[in-house]
Amino acid sequence: MIELKNVSFSYPDGVRALQDLDLTLERGASVALLGPNGCGKTTLLRLLNGLIFPSSGEYRFNGDLIDRSALKDATFSKQFHRRVGYVFQNVDAQLFCGSVEDEIAFGPRQMGLDEAEISRRVDDCLELLQISPLRRRAPYALSGGEKRRVAFACVLALNPDALTMDEPLAGLDVGTQRRLLDFLVGLRRAKKTLIFATHSESFAAEIAEIRVRMEAGRIVAVER
Ligand SMILES: Nc1ncnc2c1ncn2[C@@H]1O[C@H](COP(=O)(O)OP(=O)(O)OP(=O)(O)O)[C@@H](O)[C@H]1O
Ligand SMILES: [Mg+2]
Repeated sequence: MIELKNVSFSYPDGVRALQDLDLTLERGASVALLGPNGCGKTTLLRLLNGLIFPSSGEYRFNGDLIDRSALKDATFSKQFHRRVGYVFQNVDAQLFCGSVEDEIAFGPRQMGLDEAEISRRVDDCLELLQISPLRRRAPYALSGGEKRRVAFACVLALNPDALTMDEPLAGLDVGTQRRLLDFLVGLRRAKKTLIFATHSESFAAEIAEIRVRMEAGRIVAVER
């Protein structure tokens, strides 16, 4: 499903954040990206989501080359973005609607689903993340953990094939962490592809069957 061949990436200011990555992930894999601050986990997730593109090398998703020109095609880009969902490390960057329910409905609406299906997905996701009482609140005025739950709900509402998450449990209380962990275990059983960056070995041990260890922009080990 995901194939990286000799991928390197440098930020415009010259910081070489990814170097010579080779990685193949099958559909249904659950993968933890582990490594110290600044090793390239977030950069790799951004690349997998088509927000940035390899400076050299190739990224293929279901066999299709993902590069700037492929994603210029609006139809292809829409299809790709509905297959791969992303919960940001900084969720503030991801929330912009006037209310939580509009925020969750936004993606499904973009996908052109009918209003009955949209409202079913919104209700399910509110329930799952236990944020129903927040549904009419403005996302920017929520606490950090509440925002993270909303961001999660937004991505789940898209029902992507692959769910990518950047430190998804950071800043959440123990109860919410537990619920999300159980939910992710369920997604894993349902053979959704899960890829997440984390600093928690225990989270990785519980959810991931593959641990990708990074250091200074390189993959130094893939443990299966
Ligand atoms: N927008 C940017 N412009 C330039 N350099 C960047 C940018 N974002 C990240 N970097 C650099 O790229 C490298 C990888 O950063 P990245 O954010 O991918 O690390 P990370 O593994 O996610 O770290 P953390 O565990 O702290 O979240 C670091 O050296 C970082 O300083
Ligand atoms: Mg990061």
